[in-house]
Amino acid sequence: MKVESQQKLLDCNIKSKVKEQHSSYGEIPSLIKWTGSKRSQASRIAALVPEHNHYYEPFLGGGALLYLFARPRATGSDIYKPLVDFWIMVRDNSEYLIDNYYTQWGLLQESLPEYYYIVRERFNTTHQPEDLSFLMRTCVNGIVRFSKKGDFNNSFHLSRRGMLPDTYSSIVKDWSEKIREVDFICGDFETVVSQSKPGDFVYLDPPYAGNKQRYIGDLDISRFYGVLEDLNYRGVKWALSFDGARGKKTYDYSPPSDLYRRRENLTSGYSAVSKVLNGPIEEVNEALYLNY
Ligand SMILES: C[S@@+](CC[C@H](N)C(=O)[O-])C[C@H]1O[C@@H](n2cnc3c(N)ncnc32)[C@H](O)[C@@H]1O
Repeated sequence: MKVESQQKLLDCNIKSKVKEQHSSYGEIPSLIKWTGSKRSQASRIAALVPEHNHYYEPFLGGGALLYLFARPRATGSDIYKPLVDFWIMVRDNSEYLIDNYYTQWGLLQESLPEYYYIVRERFNTTHQPEDLSFLMRTCVNGIVRFSKKGDFNNSFHLSRRGMLPDTYSSIVKDWSEKIREVDFICGDFETVVSQSKPGDFVYLDPPYAGNKQRYIGDLDISRFYGVLEDLNYRGVKWALSFDGARGKKTYDYSPPSDLYRRRENLTSGYSAVSKVLNGPIEEVNEALYLNY
């Protein structure tokens, strides 16, 4: 068999595997797609989460796990302010967010794709959370991408017209109810998790090292390990999504073995990022490290 046909067959197999996985996590509605989303693994990670008092998710992104642990006491935080503003708007001002989407979606249908680029330009100046949400629901595969300057620079998804407003509305309402009592903070993970106490639980999902273009902010790995060490010292339980082999490449950033007690392998499906960049479909293997 030619290499090209073999690759196609492999891609097909991976795609059908991914479809199977999607049906098992259908219960978490996709509010905002974020690079590195853990929706596909959320139920498997959740099964490993111990009883806890306060739940912390300091690399919130699209907050797949937050949906399952939003109550009774939870804090979600991220370094990217427009994203945190979006979460706050979903919690406190969902009606405005929904109305705004109906309006913007209507304008988009009248002027495809020009309206998308008007909103993108506006967002890069004003950073309004409703614009971020609109862009994320209409850009190529919903993948966030930033220029070196920090501007959102993904293109419009030409073959799609954006999520239907009725669907958007029911997803926002569902999440809004779920996160009613969640505290959202814009800030660095270290500051936020320093508030945790014994009996609390922290779920950490930092960006892949070397994946700067897809996130705002940078992560110093020795500082990160220092925070894990501090949590261990203070008796706070944590789980960390980390490293992983993606296709042929191995992203091997396993934490030092004295920092954690066990490691679970989780396969998350194919990389949406390589799909956007028209690269070969790569299976992503993620590991979960636990300090308990
Ligand atoms: C892998 S994503 C999280 C994905 C999320 N678990 C989900 O399911 O959508 C990592 C997030 O960490 C955030 N981040 C990067 N550096 C950070 C820092 N120093 N402190 C807090 N958040 C940071 C990024 O903005 C990004 O949203």
